Amino acid sequence: MVILITGISSGFGLETARLLAHEGHTVYGTVRREVEQLPSVNYLKVDVRDREAVNAAVQQVIEKEGRIDVLVNNAGMGIGGPVEFATEEEVKEQMDTNFMGLVHFVTAVLPHMRKQGSGRIIALSSIGGLMGLPFQGFYSASKFAIEGYCEALRLETKKLGIIVTVVRPGDFSTGFTASRKKTPNAEAMKAYQTYAESMGKVEHDETGGLKPRVLARKISSIIQKEHPRYGYVVASFEQRLSVLLKRILPAKWFALILGSYYKL
Ligand SMILES: NC(=O)c1ccc[n+]([C@@H]2O[C@H](COP(=O)([O-])OP(=O)(O)OC[C@H]3O[C@@H](n4cnc5c(N)ncnc54)[C@H](OP(=O)(O)O)[C@@H]3O)[C@@H](O)[C@H]2O)c1
Repeated sequence: MVILITGISSGFGLETARLLAHEGHTVYGTVRREVEQLPSVNYLKVDVRDREAVNAAVQQVIEKEGRIDVLVNNAGMGIGGPVEFATEEEVKEQMDTNFMGLVHFVTAVLPHMRKQGSGRIIALSSIGGLMGLPFQGFYSASKFAIEGYCEALRLETKKLGIIVTVVRPGDFSTGFTASRKKTPNAEAMKAYQTYAESMGKVEHDETGGLKPRVLARKISSIIQKEHPRYGYVVASFEQRLSVLLKRILPAKWFALILGSYYKL
Protein backbone atom coordinates (compact mmCIF):
# COMPACT_ATOMS: atom_id res chain seq x y z
CA MET A 1 0.00 0.00 0.00
CA VAL A 2 1.06 3.60 -0.52
CA ILE A 3 0.88 5.28 2.88
CA LEU A 4 1.36 8.95 3.73
CA ILE A 5 2.05 9.80 7.38
CA THR A 6 2.32 13.34 8.72
CA GLY A 7 4.84 14.35 11.39
CA ILE A 8 7.41 11.53 11.36
CA SER A 9 10.30 13.36 13.05
CA SER A 10 9.49 11.71 16.41
CA GLY A 11 6.96 9.84 18.54
CA PHE A 12 4.04 8.01 16.93
CA GLY A 13 4.86 9.22 13.42
CA LEU A 14 8.42 7.94 13.55
CA GLU A 15 7.49 4.53 15.00
CA THR A 16 4.57 4.10 12.61
CA ALA A 17 6.69 5.00 9.56
CA ARG A 18 9.38 2.57 10.71
CA LEU A 19 6.94 -0.29 11.28
CA LEU A 20 4.89 0.17 8.11
CA ALA A 21 8.01 0.43 5.94
CA HIS A 22 9.35 -2.72 7.62
CA GLU A 23 6.07 -4.45 6.73
CA GLY A 24 6.74 -3.70 3.07
CA HIS A 25 4.47 -0.73 2.46
CA THR A 26 5.57 2.25 0.39
CA VAL A 27 5.80 4.92 3.06
CA TYR A 28 5.95 8.68 2.62
CA GLY A 29 6.34 10.82 5.71
CA THR A 30 6.32 14.54 6.30
CA VAL A 31 8.78 16.52 8.42
CA ARG A 32 9.29 20.25 8.76
CA ARG A 33 12.96 20.21 9.81
CA GLU A 34 16.15 18.28 9.12
CA VAL A 35 16.09 14.86 10.79
CA GLU A 36 18.02 11.62 10.58
CA GLN A 37 16.16 9.74 7.87
CA LEU A 38 14.93 6.13 7.93
CA PRO A 39 16.40 4.48 4.83
CA SER A 40 13.18 2.84 3.62
CA VAL A 41 10.96 5.92 4.00
CA ASN A 42 10.43 8.77 1.52
CA TYR A 43 10.62 12.18 3.18
CA LEU A 44 8.60 15.27 2.25
CA LYS A 45 9.16 18.71 3.77
CA VAL A 46 5.85 20.14 4.97
CA ASP A 47 4.55 22.46 7.65
CA VAL A 48 0.99 21.15 7.96
CA ARG A 49 -0.33 24.69 8.48
CA ASP A 50 0.76 25.61 4.95
CA ARG A 51 -1.98 24.53 2.52
CA GLU A 52 0.21 25.04 -0.57
CA ALA A 53 3.02 22.91 0.88
CA VAL A 54 0.50 20.17 1.72
CA ASN A 55 -0.94 20.21 -1.82
CA ALA A 56 2.56 20.04 -3.32
CA ALA A 57 3.52 17.07 -1.10
CA VAL A 58 0.38 15.11 -1.99
CA GLN A 59 0.95 15.90 -5.68
CA GLN A 60 4.50 14.58 -5.41
CA VAL A 61 3.26 11.23 -4.04
CA ILE A 62 0.60 10.99 -6.75
CA GLU A 63 3.14 11.74 -9.50
CA LYS A 64 5.49 9.02 -8.21
CA GLU A 65 3.01 6.34 -7.12
CA GLY A 66 -0.21 7.19 -8.93
CA ARG A 67 -2.23 6.64 -5.75
CA ILE A 68 -2.48 7.12 -1.98
CA ASP A 69 -4.09 4.22 -0.14
CA VAL A 70 -3.76 5.47 3.43
CA LEU A 71 -3.37 8.88 5.05
CA VAL A 72 -2.28 8.78 8.69
CA ASN A 73 -2.81 12.30 9.99
CA ASN A 74 -0.57 12.37 12.99
CA ALA A 75 1.26 15.72 13.20
CA GLY A 76 0.19 17.69 16.23
CA MET A 77 1.25 19.79 19.21
CA GLY A 78 -0.18 21.03 22.46
CA ILE A 79 -0.37 24.23 24.44
CA GLY A 80 -0.80 24.05 28.19
CA GLY A 81 -2.06 26.52 30.77
CA PRO A 82 -5.27 28.17 31.96
CA VAL A 83 -7.44 29.04 28.94
CA GLU A 84 -7.68 32.58 30.27
CA PHE A 85 -3.98 33.17 29.69
CA ALA A 86 -3.54 31.63 26.23
CA THR A 87 -2.59 34.21 23.63
CA GLU A 88 -4.36 34.57 20.30
CA GLU A 89 -1.17 33.34 18.54
CA GLU A 90 -0.96 30.22 20.72
CA VAL A 91 -4.61 29.35 20.09
CA LYS A 92 -4.13 29.88 16.37
CA GLU A 93 -1.05 27.66 16.29
CA GLN A 94 -2.94 24.98 18.20
CA MET A 95 -5.95 24.96 15.88
CA ASP A 96 -3.95 25.50 12.67
CA THR A 97 -1.64 22.57 13.42
CA ASN A 98 -4.00 19.99 14.85
CA PHE A 99 -7.24 20.79 13.07
CA MET A 100 -6.43 22.77 9.91
CA GLY A 101 -3.44 20.49 9.27
CA LEU A 102 -5.88 17.57 9.07
CA VAL A 103 -8.28 19.58 6.91
CA HIS A 104 -5.45 20.47 4.50
CA PHE A 105 -4.37 16.85 4.06
CA VAL A 106 -7.86 15.40 3.81
CA THR A 107 -8.87 18.03 1.23
CA ALA A 108 -5.74 17.24 -0.80
CA VAL A 109 -6.04 13.42 -0.75
CA LEU A 110 -9.81 13.06 -1.14
CA PRO A 111 -10.02 13.77 -4.90
CA HIS A 112 -7.47 10.98 -5.50
CA MET A 113 -9.16 8.54 -3.14
CA ARG A 114 -12.51 9.30 -4.79
CA LYS A 115 -11.03 8.54 -8.22
CA GLN A 116 -9.49 5.31 -6.88
CA GLY A 117 -12.84 4.38 -5.32
CA SER A 118 -10.91 3.46 -2.17
CA GLY A 119 -8.76 4.90 0.59
CA ARG A 120 -8.25 5.02 4.32
CA ILE A 121 -7.99 8.12 6.47
CA ILE A 122 -6.68 7.55 9.99
CA ALA A 123 -6.82 10.65 12.18
CA LEU A 124 -4.97 11.00 15.49
CA SER A 125 -7.37 12.42 18.03
CA SER A 126 -6.83 11.90 21.76
CA ILE A 127 -8.66 10.99 24.94
CA GLY A 128 -8.59 14.78 25.25
CA GLY A 129 -10.90 14.80 22.20
CA LEU A 130 -13.53 12.98 24.25
CA MET A 131 -13.29 15.01 27.47
CA GLY A 132 -12.14 18.56 28.16
CA LEU A 133 -8.80 18.29 29.97
CA PRO A 134 -8.07 21.03 32.52
CA PHE A 135 -5.13 23.27 31.60
CA GLN A 136 -5.16 21.73 28.12
CA GLY A 137 -8.42 23.38 27.08
CA PHE A 138 -7.34 24.48 23.61
CA TYR A 139 -5.61 21.16 22.93
CA SER A 140 -8.87 19.42 23.82
CA ALA A 141 -10.78 21.89 21.63
CA SER A 142 -8.55 21.05 18.66
CA LYS A 143 -9.17 17.34 19.18
CA PHE A 144 -12.93 17.83 19.70
CA ALA A 145 -12.84 19.65 16.33
CA ILE A 146 -11.18 16.59 14.78
CA GLU A 147 -13.85 14.35 16.31
CA GLY A 148 -16.75 16.39 14.90
CA TYR A 149 -15.12 16.75 11.49
CA CYS A 150 -14.31 13.03 11.21
CA GLU A 151 -17.81 11.99 12.27
CA ALA A 152 -19.21 13.97 9.34
CA LEU A 153 -16.41 12.94 6.95
CA ARG A 154 -17.00 9.30 7.71
CA LEU A 155 -20.63 9.52 6.60
CA GLU A 156 -19.93 11.74 3.58
CA THR A 157 -17.29 9.38 2.18
CA LYS A 158 -18.82 6.03 3.13
CA LYS A 159 -20.33 5.34 -0.27
CA LEU A 160 -17.12 6.40 -2.04
CA GLY A 161 -15.19 3.43 -0.68
CA ILE A 162 -13.27 5.55 1.81
CA ILE A 163 -12.89 4.38 5.40
CA VAL A 164 -12.32 6.95 8.16
CA THR A 165 -10.89 5.87 11.52
CA VAL A 166 -10.18 7.98 14.57
CA VAL A 167 -7.48 6.85 17.01
CA ARG A 168 -7.56 8.25 20.54
CA PRO A 169 -4.37 7.65 22.48
CA GLY A 170 -4.12 8.12 26.22
CA ASP A 171 -0.77 9.01 27.80
CA PHE A 172 2.28 8.03 25.78
CA SER A 173 5.92 8.81 26.25
CA THR A 174 6.90 10.77 23.10
CA GLY A 175 8.38 14.14 22.17
CA PHE A 176 4.93 15.66 22.79
CA THR A 177 5.54 16.53 26.46
CA ALA A 178 8.81 18.38 25.79
CA SER A 179 7.36 20.31 22.85
CA ARG A 180 4.23 21.44 24.73
CA LYS A 181 4.09 25.25 24.88
CA LYS A 182 3.16 26.11 28.45
CA THR A 183 2.00 29.44 29.82
CA PRO A 184 5.05 30.44 31.86
CA ASN A 185 3.28 33.46 33.28
CA ALA A 186 3.68 34.01 37.03
CA GLU A 187 0.29 35.71 37.02
CA ALA A 188 -1.28 32.51 35.67
CA MET A 189 0.36 30.48 38.44
CA LYS A 190 -0.94 32.92 41.04
CA ALA A 191 -4.46 33.11 39.65
CA TYR A 192 -4.76 29.33 39.21
CA GLN A 193 -2.87 27.87 42.13
CA THR A 194 -3.57 24.29 41.03
CA TYR A 195 -2.09 24.89 37.56
CA ALA A 196 1.49 23.88 38.37
CA GLU A 197 0.44 20.77 40.29
CA SER A 198 -2.10 19.65 37.66
CA MET A 199 0.38 20.20 34.83
CA GLY A 200 3.03 18.30 36.78
CA LYS A 201 0.59 15.39 37.04
CA VAL A 202 -0.13 15.52 33.29
CA GLU A 203 3.59 15.48 32.46
CA HIS A 204 4.31 12.72 34.97
CA ASP A 205 1.55 10.56 33.42
CA GLU A 206 2.83 11.23 29.90
CA THR A 207 6.50 10.53 30.56
CA GLY A 208 5.58 7.29 32.37
CA GLY A 209 3.07 6.44 29.65
CA LEU A 210 2.99 3.73 27.01
CA LYS A 211 5.71 3.45 24.35
CA PRO A 212 4.91 4.85 20.90
CA ARG A 213 5.48 1.47 19.22
CA VAL A 214 2.26 0.26 20.91
CA LEU A 215 0.38 2.88 18.94
CA ALA A 216 2.32 2.06 15.75
CA ARG A 217 1.25 -1.58 16.08
CA LYS A 218 -2.38 -0.50 16.50
CA ILE A 219 -2.23 1.61 13.35
CA SER A 220 -0.69 -1.29 11.45
CA SER A 221 -3.47 -3.62 12.65
CA ILE A 222 -6.15 -1.09 11.66
CA ILE A 223 -4.67 -0.91 8.14
CA GLN A 224 -4.71 -4.70 7.88
CA LYS A 225 -8.38 -4.96 8.87
CA GLU A 226 -10.88 -5.13 6.03
CA HIS A 227 -13.56 -3.56 8.21
CA PRO A 228 -11.90 -1.52 10.99
CA ARG A 229 -14.00 0.10 13.68
CA TYR A 230 -14.58 3.85 13.43
CA GLY A 231 -12.91 4.67 16.75
CA TYR A 232 -10.12 3.16 18.84
CA VAL A 233 -8.97 4.18 22.30
CA VAL A 234 -5.37 3.12 22.90
CA ALA A 235 -4.63 3.72 26.56
CA SER A 236 -4.06 2.29 30.02
CA PHE A 237 -6.92 0.53 31.80
CA GLU A 238 -7.64 3.63 33.96
CA GLN A 239 -7.84 5.89 30.94
CA ARG A 240 -10.08 3.49 29.03
CA LEU A 241 -12.27 3.38 32.13
CA SER A 242 -12.44 7.19 32.18
CA VAL A 243 -13.70 7.14 28.57
CA LEU A 244 -16.40 4.65 29.54
CA LEU A 245 -17.38 6.70 32.61
CA LYS A 246 -17.60 9.87 30.52
CA ARG A 247 -20.04 8.06 28.23
CA ILE A 248 -22.31 6.58 30.89
CA LEU A 249 -22.21 8.90 33.93
CA PRO A 250 -24.18 12.12 34.38
CA ALA A 251 -21.91 15.07 33.44
CA LYS A 252 -21.89 16.32 37.05
CA TRP A 253 -20.49 13.05 38.42
CA PHE A 254 -17.89 12.74 35.71
CA ALA A 255 -16.71 16.31 36.36
CA LEU A 256 -16.32 15.43 40.04
CA ILE A 257 -14.18 12.39 39.22
CA LEU A 258 -11.99 14.15 36.64
CA GLY A 259 -11.67 17.22 38.85
CA SER A 260 -10.59 15.19 41.85
CA TYR A 261 -7.99 13.37 39.73
CA TYR A 262 -6.44 16.73 38.87
CA LYS A 263 -6.99 18.01 42.44
CA LEU A 264 -9.45 20.68 41.26
N1 LIG B 1 1.93 11.56 23.32
C1 LIG B 1 0.72 11.49 23.80
O1 LIG B 1 0.53 11.21 25.00
C2 LIG B 1 -0.48 11.75 22.90
C3 LIG B 1 -1.75 11.47 23.42
C4 LIG B 1 -2.86 11.66 22.63
C5 LIG B 1 -2.72 12.12 21.34
N2 LIG B 1 -1.49 12.39 20.83
C6 LIG B 1 -1.41 12.89 19.44
O2 LIG B 1 -0.53 12.09 18.68
C7 LIG B 1 0.02 12.86 17.62
C8 LIG B 1 1.52 12.66 17.58
O3 LIG B 1 2.08 13.14 18.77
P1 LIG B 1 3.36 12.51 19.48
O4 LIG B 1 2.94 12.14 20.84
O5 LIG B 1 4.01 11.49 18.63
O6 LIG B 1 4.27 13.84 19.64
P2 LIG B 1 5.66 14.26 19.03
O7 LIG B 1 6.68 13.22 19.31
O8 LIG B 1 5.89 15.64 19.51
O9 LIG B 1 5.40 14.28 17.44
C9 LIG B 1 4.61 15.27 16.84
C10 LIG B 1 4.97 15.36 15.38
O10 LIG B 1 4.15 16.39 14.78
C11 LIG B 1 5.02 17.28 14.08
N3 LIG B 1 4.48 18.63 13.97
C12 LIG B 1 4.07 19.46 14.95
N4 LIG B 1 3.67 20.63 14.44
C13 LIG B 1 3.84 20.54 13.08
C14 LIG B 1 3.61 21.41 12.00
N5 LIG B 1 3.12 22.65 12.17
N6 LIG B 1 3.91 20.98 10.74
C15 LIG B 1 4.42 19.75 10.55
N7 LIG B 1 4.66 18.86 11.53
C16 LIG B 1 4.37 19.27 12.79
C17 LIG B 1 6.30 17.26 14.89
O11 LIG B 1 7.35 17.81 14.13
P3 LIG B 1 8.56 18.63 14.85
O12 LIG B 1 9.45 17.59 15.43
O13 LIG B 1 9.17 19.41 13.74
O14 LIG B 1 7.92 19.51 15.90
C18 LIG B 1 6.42 15.77 15.15
O15 LIG B 1 6.91 15.10 14.02
C19 LIG B 1 -0.41 14.30 17.86
O16 LIG B 1 -1.51 14.59 17.02
C20 LIG B 1 -0.85 14.30 19.32
O17 LIG B 1 -1.82 15.26 19.60
C21 LIG B 1 -0.35 12.22 21.60
